[in-house]
Amino acid sequence: MSQPFPSFDDNAAAQKARLAEVPARVALSLKVNGRTYSVQAPDDMPLLWVLRDLLNLKGTKFGCGIAQCGACTVHVDGRPVRSCMLPAANVGSREVTTIEAIAQKECGRRIQEAWLELEVVQCGYCQSGQIMSAAALIERNPAPDNAEIDAAMAGNICRCATYARIRAAIKLASRR
Ligand code: FES
Ligand code: FES
Repeated sequence: MSQPFPSFDDNAAAQKARLAEVPARVALSLKVNGRTYSVQAPDDMPLLWVLRDLLNLKGTKFGCGIAQCGACTVHVDGRPVRSCMLPAANVGSREVTTIEAIAQKECGRRIQEAWLELEVVQCGYCQSGQIMSAAALIERNPAPDNAEIDAAMAGNICRCATYARIRAAIKLASRR
């Protein structure tokens, strides 16, 4: 037997329920790459979505969305953070640095030069996250050994398996 068409009242109730699901929006003031941005965003929107969709900073990538691949890594007050899982509303007054501005830091400039010199990149998708994690590593540990590099980079997955070149580039950057 065919289903009857929904009545006007059924449709109105469904519409009301959908509207009730729209998340509350909050006004955020975010410091990103040395600039202060004011945005309106859903109160649970992860920082990654704010960076890419509201601030048009597309260098930071979406991979897994569950803090398992490292593609979305940015710095928050200099520490590497998975931006796919961090609500932008929780950033507060801390400084966010993305791949677009990492070369302005000494550690980022050295890492990017080493990346270019050793031609680390293959498809490139994971590489902004790799560079952000590597820059944070040599910022806090200027001469990491293999075990320290592997530990710091373990959360950054590369489907092209550029791991050997990443390790070599971090060592090259740490010698400069
Ligand atoms: S997209 Fe954030 S860790 Fe994979
Ligand atoms: S370079 Fe292709 S996923 Fe890492």
